Amino acid sequence: MRRTPVAVFLSGRGSNYAALAAATAAADYPAEIVAVLADSDAEGLRRVPGIPGTAVERREYPSRAAFEDALDAATRAAGAELICLAGFMRILSPAFVARWEGRILNIHPSMLPSFRGLDTHARALAAGVKLHGATVHLVTPELDDGPILAQAAVPVLPDDTAETLAARVLAVEHRLYPAALARFVRGGGPVSGEDAALFSPPVP
Ligand code: GRF
Repeated sequence: MRRTPVAVFLSGRGSNYAALAAATAAADYPAEIVAVLADSDAEGLRRVPGIPGTAVERREYPSRAAFEDALDAATRAAGAELICLAGFMRILSPAFVARWEGRILNIHPSMLPSFRGLDTHARALAAGVKLHGATVHLVTPELDDGPILAQAAVPVLPDDTAETLAARVLAVEHRLYPAALARFVRGGGPVSGEDAALFSPPVP
């Protein structure tokens, strides 16, 4: 079985990257991680033994375009055909997205199109929503706005803080992202609502 080579871009601790890497350990998983790149010396670069991480430091480049050229070159040099954003905290330019059109996935910690952007858990609590969750989507030039590939929901509980809610969402992210990537690579298209429910834990 040919495995689709994937580059992971991250900026932080890399727990979703670790979940993707763990999934690729299965012999029948249809993708492999060939590069992990960060925009700084992020903790996540060292998260998975055996996959060397590369920092492409934004401050070492005179412009966003030059920085993105370096990201693009490193991704292509590794032979990647897809990019998975996993907590990558920079907005990619329309030019970069166009170069990789339909081949960049992202995971966002909300049920899009609700709560695009940052601080999703605190904003969900403030809004009083009773379900929250995570979305895997294709990246387009608009922030957190591309076609939805898969979603999972979690309950919001009465005593939740942003931290407890984030932890509940993160646990489903780690199941959702590998499943969504596998399905995308296999050409399965977006996960249907019925399938999406498989990733959502039961309400306690
Ligand atoms: C996750 O919540 C992800 O949804 C968001 O950034 C966070 C990254 O966490 N895009 P980690 O670095 O994967 O642990």
